[in-house]
Amino acid sequence: MGTSRPPRGKVSLSIITIIICALAFVALLYTQRISSLSSSAIFRFKPCAAKRIAAKKSVIDNRNVGALDDAADDRFVFDPEECSLVHGKWVFNRSITPLYTDRSCPYLDRQVSCVKNGKLDTDYLHWEWRPDDCILPRFDPKKALQRLQGKRLMFVGDSLQRGQWQSFVCLVESVIPQGQKSMKRGRAHSVFKAKEHNATIEFYWAPFLVESNSDLHIIADPKKRILKVDSVAKHAKHWIGVDILVFNTYVWWMSGLKIKSLWGSFANGDEGYEELDAPVSYTIGLKTWANWVDSNVNPNKTRVFFTTMSPTHQRSADWGNEKGIKCFNETKPITKKRHWGSGSDKRMMGVVAGVVERMKVPVTLINITQLSEYRIDAHSSIYTELGGKLLTDEQKADPLHYADCIHWCLPGVPDTWNRILYAHLL
Ligand SMILES: *[C@@H]1O[C@H](CO)[C@@H](O)[C@H](O)[C@H]1NC(C)=O
Ligand SMILES: *[C@@H]1O[C@H](CO)[C@@H](O)[C@H](O)[C@H]1NC(C)=O
Ligand SMILES: *[C@@H]1O[C@H](CO)[C@@H](O)[C@H](O)[C@H]1NC(C)=O
Ligand SMILES: *[C@@H]1O[C@H](CO)[C@@H](O)[C@H](O)[C@H]1NC(C)=O
Ligand SMILES: *[C@@H]1O[C@H](CO)[C@@H](O)[C@H](O)[C@H]1NC(C)=O
Repeated sequence: MGTSRPPRGKVSLSIITIIICALAFVALLYTQRISSLSSSAIFRFKPCAAKRIAAKKSVIDNRNVGALDDAADDRFVFDPEECSLVHGKWVFNRSITPLYTDRSCPYLDRQVSCVKNGKLDTDYLHWEWRPDDCILPRFDPKKALQRLQGKRLMFVGDSLQRGQWQSFVCLVESVIPQGQKSMKRGRAHSVFKAKEHNATIEFYWAPFLVESNSDLHIIADPKKRILKVDSVAKHAKHWIGVDILVFNTYVWWMSGLKIKSLWGSFANGDEGYEELDAPVSYTIGLKTWANWVDSNVNPNKTRVFFTTMSPTHQRSADWGNEKGIKCFNETKPITKKRHWGSGSDKRMMGVVAGVVERMKVPVTLINITQLSEYRIDAHSSIYTELGGKLLTDEQKADPLHYADCIHWCLPGVPDTWNRILYAHLL
């Protein structure tokens, strides 16, 4: 894909588009599986926004000429942004299994290895996100690696982003022979290498994106955390030269307290902070990030993504389970359309939308909030660790204090986030 953005086609091929899309749609009605089609089909079908086809212009895509992929099959690309992946439903299908398990993939942290940690209910592994308007391509590890040929993909953000990074690594690693891959974990920066493809899949820890006194040496008490909302350079120098950047930041801003925010370089130093409401401080912090991206990222060479907030499920009353304890013991997704819980702050979402919209460098949102909102069944819950140790039986018996309803089991929901990222990279 040359990481350059596709030339936005001025040529209207809408008639051909409609025919191809309609054919694809009909074919898919029968197969339901894009992967079974793609090997035999003459055209490689891209996500079709079935309802909006008529209004849409198609794009002639030259990105694959010369790439490993069969370029001739790639003439009709439907802009994934035309297809809303936001609205849809989770469909249960036991014959769908994840591409990896927490035993097969050696790179997963214990924090997210729920089955290995004793989770007995495994139904949560067999739900598939089905968007209303289009078909989300299946994650094809080989194709994903081809897209990363000679490139660096970097996830930047907090522990939820670390989960998305581990998910991506695990999704592709099984097709890489032993000896052709390596993993180097660092405190801030971790790098997975796929040697044959000269590609890296990296993670950079920056839970607020901007600098804080709680980045590497995490300060447990949120009252003592101070954010330098106008400083990002210390982290951002590690992002230079990366071909695909995927950012997130949300949950660390949500301690419920005012954020001690510091800016400018005044002599009063750490004492010169201002206590701001989270959305205000978040706006300044995100603008700092956006300014850095706008002045340092060449959009012809680098693609930028932003994963929206990952919902937390701390209040079972949100989904009508008055007697529940957070997400503990939940085994089914919420089915109520557009369910939105108290763990997803709409003001914070509005800040992201507002900042990204005004940026010079195009940023693709991976809007995972709504689809993840439904998945109360897929958090690590009590099948996790604390301070480097598996929860003890006593701790497990006290889910009110110990169930983790913020992080997600892997394999699990972040695989779907990566399926969306993958669809954008095709
Ligand atoms: C479940 O998935 C399998 C394999 O992908 C597929 O063949 C089958 O049609 C699916 N079943 C339903 C009900 O969608
Ligand atoms: C490998 O990829 C890096 C960029 O990530 C590039 O600078 C380098 O030239 C590539 N090496 C080969 C042998 O392709
Ligand atoms: C990106 O490419 C376009 C078209 O080739 C060119 O006009 C523009 O100056 C380039 N931008 C940068 C930042 O290099
Ligand atoms: C969890 O759910 C199972 C089955 O639904 C039930 O038997 C068990 O009592 C529940 N545990 C708690 C502590 O509520
Ligand atoms: C993400 O999707 C939700 C709908 O589920 C929407 O309300 C929100 O504005 C979107 N976020 C952004 C940043 O565009």
